[in-house]
Amino acid sequence: MSMDRRRFMRLGAGAAIAPLLPGCGGDGKVPATGVPRSDFDEDSTAEEVTEGIDLKGKIAVVTGCTSGIGYETMRVLARRGCYVIGTGRTLQSAQKACSSVIGVTTPVQLELSDFDSVAACADAIRSLNSPIDMLICNAGMRGSDYETAYGVEKHFVVNHLGHFILVYRLLERMYLAWQGRVVVVASRAAYRSAPEDGIQFDDLRMTRDYSPGRAYAHSKLANVLFSLELARLLKGTRITSNALHPGVIDTNIARNVSVIARGAFSAWTSMTGKSIEQGAATSCFVATSPLLGSTSGQYFEDCNAVTVTGGSHMHDSEQASRLWLASEELTRDYLVEIKRPDWNEFENGIRKKKE
Ligand SMILES: NC(=O)c1ccc[n+]([C@@H]2O[C@H](COP(=O)([O-])OP(=O)(O)OC[C@H]3O[C@@H](n4cnc5c(N)ncnc54)[C@H](OP(=O)(O)O)[C@@H]3O)[C@@H](O)[C@H]2O)c1
Repeated sequence: MSMDRRRFMRLGAGAAIAPLLPGCGGDGKVPATGVPRSDFDEDSTAEEVTEGIDLKGKIAVVTGCTSGIGYETMRVLARRGCYVIGTGRTLQSAQKACSSVIGVTTPVQLELSDFDSVAACADAIRSLNSPIDMLICNAGMRGSDYETAYGVEKHFVVNHLGHFILVYRLLERMYLAWQGRVVVVASRAAYRSAPEDGIQFDDLRMTRDYSPGRAYAHSKLANVLFSLELARLLKGTRITSNALHPGVIDTNIARNVSVIARGAFSAWTSMTGKSIEQGAATSCFVATSPLLGSTSGQYFEDCNAVTVTGGSHMHDSEQASRLWLASEELTRDYLVEIKRPDWNEFENGIRKKKE
């Protein structure tokens, strides 16, 4: 479909089914200042944005590699020579996905709603004793019924707290990479549908005004703010952290919503959305582009960093710091001390052999 037609459909169809979909309100956005612009856009695919980039010798972790954007991200990174550790909620599903792509991959089990599983996954990855160049926090859920885990609303647990623990426990390995990148797959729902006052610090159970769309958006705002605070904490290191919206894509993300909403989502995405190949482009771009070696704390859409204007909390550093402390408090029993390596032990980024 041509761009003009797609833009036209987006306006018309969007207006028609907006009430059925989460995240159809809108703040504005402008290009972020101080970040190199790429020539890629909403039509670019993951293969296109990684064309010519040799990832041999690099190691990536992709959570949620069994479906949709995560699968395509793994497939393309592996195709470019990257060794990919792909996670699935069961080892079997991760094995099935990993074995179906060309390249070197290792499946690992990860159930983000179970913090013991998250810790075990991180430990399994750490036991490989390798640096991690890219940690792509992609897995995510969009539920329908109200659920809690660990006393907190479930979207927040799966989409934010599970990844918070995973990143925390793997950060030590990222210090060992030449230039580590944490990539957080968020959503523009973070500024279109999240609560107006941002993170609900006094109601993380979301007992007030619960709706699945609002809870999903709340967890996606947490993704963005987590990445922002991580970038601040990592200033002065070679590790970067960025968040992104992949686009609107007909994946399995809507599997839990009602048949009517799922149908509307499919209709909307088939008319106006991206393909899965396009949906994985921004993740792959942010994870691999040589343009972005020192870009951190940014939010990307369509392969370019944007600043969201208006009253959203997308760039709210105060809430980001507060969220970090609240997340540490909630996951305290699952965190490890983050040790920075002793650089005297290294030469050209490689640990020297003991005499
Ligand atoms: N599709 C869109 O339009 C869109 C828009 C904005 C943002 N996103 C974000 O993009 C990311 C990828 O989503 P997608 O669209 O590719 O959806 P998807 O096809 O449903 O893939 C989601 C992946 O996350 C995994 N996952 C779900 N719940 C999990 C849990 N509790 N523990 C561990 N893994 C879990 C899934 O595993 P199973 O297959 O085993 O369930 C699957 O591998 C998500 O973070 C989503 O929020 C998507």
